[in-house]
Amino acid sequence: MNHHELVSRIMDLKKETKTVIMAHNYQRPEVQDVADILGDSLELARLARELKEERILLCGVRFMAESAKIVAPEKTVLTPEEEAGCPMADMISAEDVRRLRKEFPGYLFMAYVNTSAEVKAEVDLCCTSSNALALVRKLKGEKIFFLPDKNLGSWIKDQTGADMEVWPGFCYVHNRIRLEDLEKGRAEHPGAEAIIHPESPLDVLKAADAVLSTGQMITYVREAQAKRFLVGTEEGMIYRLETLFPDRDFYPMGKRFTCENMKKITLEKVFQALLTGEKPINVDSETIRRASRSLDRMLEMSR
Ligand code: 13P
Ligand code: SF4
Repeated sequence: MNHHELVSRIMDLKKETKTVIMAHNYQRPEVQDVADILGDSLELARLARELKEERILLCGVRFMAESAKIVAPEKTVLTPEEEAGCPMADMISAEDVRRLRKEFPGYLFMAYVNTSAEVKAEVDLCCTSSNALALVRKLKGEKIFFLPDKNLGSWIKDQTGADMEVWPGFCYVHNRIRLEDLEKGRAEHPGAEAIIHPESPLDVLKAADAVLSTGQMITYVREAQAKRFLVGTEEGMIYRLETLFPDRDFYPMGKRFTCENMKKITLEKVFQALLTGEKPINVDSETIRRASRSLDRMLEMSR
């Protein structure tokens, strides 16, 4: 099948099987192009619950599909590729959290959504890159154990002054962005505004014009006066921004950064998932019950 035939079969299958394709902003351009809904982690979780359709094909890494299943357990959530995981999510286990809870009594445990369903089941509250700061500000004075991203954790601590312990996990994609990349970009593209994802190192975050989730980057660009932007995040976001704002220029901060895990999802795998109904995400009911408390609390607090 050539590309054109593949796209047209996917469009037909979406209708025949009444499936909504939800895709994260880092997906391959051709996957973004067949998606019904594109978004960041918070938008995908929220919409997975609100959608009236009962069948979702979630094109993103595993924790995103799991989160959709946890917040909408009655729906069928399919993933085109079970092996598309997030290495940062694998840097902490449920067992680690149980041990930490004993070591840090009285702390509120807050997990970035980039964690497994089992880890979410052990914590008090979840957050995403778009609501982490606001949620911590609402917690006023609580002692917090933040996991697993040391960069997002350091940023929250720096911005809020919260009493926080931070687990030393990191994203191998964003953790490679350097201050020199930002400075070189500014020198090469005078007048460009530097927007960056909070999974990047703290010194680069502090030097940027805005620290934003992928969804917030869209709103920021829409409202900005600037015409050129240095983008400190995964390359899929540059395609997303270029598609939405063809009259603006977007440059990667340093080289183009790729999340190999997001890119494991291909158009061919999207087609196969729609055709066969494979592979449904299964999370056991007890884990759903426990993990939904921390995810629901997040959705409730970030209305
Ligand atoms: P967003 O929620 O900002 O899209 O981030 C998800 C992610 O995995 C970034 O690496
Ligand atoms: Fe995980 Fe980083 Fe990929 Fe996001 S970009 S899914 S945090 S590895």
